[in-house]
Amino acid sequence: MQRIPKIFLALFIQLLVLSVVTLGVFLAPSLIAPPYPYWVLVLIQATFAALISCKLGLPCWWRWIQFFIPIGLYLGVLIDFNPLWALALFVIVWLVFANAFKERVPLYLTNDTTRQAFKELIKRKRQVRFLDLGCGLGGNVAFMSQQRQVAESHGVETAPIPYLVSKIITGFRGGRTFAMDMWKTELAYYDVVYAFLSPEPMPKLWEKVKEEMLPGSVFVSNSFAVPGVEASEVWELSDSRKTILYIYHL
Ligand SMILES: C[S@@+](CC[C@H](N)C(=O)[O-])C[C@H]1O[C@@H](n2cnc3c(N)ncnc32)[C@H](O)[C@@H]1O
Repeated sequence: MQRIPKIFLALFIQLLVLSVVTLGVFLAPSLIAPPYPYWVLVLIQATFAALISCKLGLPCWWRWIQFFIPIGLYLGVLIDFNPLWALALFVIVWLVFANAFKERVPLYLTNDTTRQAFKELIKRKRQVRFLDLGCGLGGNVAFMSQQRQVAESHGVETAPIPYLVSKIITGFRGGRTFAMDMWKTELAYYDVVYAFLSPEPMPKLWEKVKEEMLPGSVFVSNSFAVPGVEASEVWELSDSRKTILYIYHL
């Protein structure tokens, strides 16, 4: 079950419960006289789907999604909700979070405390070439472009809406954004490479870092350590989320 993408597993669980509820509706008349109000059936569907989701391999917090999906669909039918709105919403979510589906890396942003730590990181360097792998809305790229030690500040991004926003922000505030998959970047060009991704790509990314980055350069990962590799330095920052920067000197 763990290998099935979570969205399909969630759908499978809903269908499984739906078949059991349908069977129940066929068998129930011998015990309870019909009709059975739809809202009761929907509530049974939602409750059972939520209860078994965690046991069948979905992360436990998905139980809330599993609970509210049948209820949401039922309410949508009740108020005659036009499914085109749902499609439009899905398309917008996809345009922003495309990499959550493909790479298992959603969009969340580096905060200001972390950016101040970047200054400390490059304090003794000169003519730094900085790269943000998956640069989101471009805030880091613009910030780094304004530091006097930084010669070039680049970001790559493949999610369409973040890319466009980053392009505009770096266009106004400095730095450059490229519509490029991070796996196609040439890391050897950069002195400082920053990633704020998720645990998922870290092992593969470390292989790329080792292969391409030159001696003396620095790889920084916000929050997600490379499994099985000891970081050269670990900085715990004083922001409310206690950001940890894993710093690897190549
Ligand atoms: C957690 S966000 C970090 C955004 C930004 N670096 C920051 O720190 O504020 C990760 C970003 O990486 C992007 N991303 C994920 N996989 C990518 C890939 N293969 N190529 C380019 N961008 C990617 C996502 O779209 C998302 O915008």
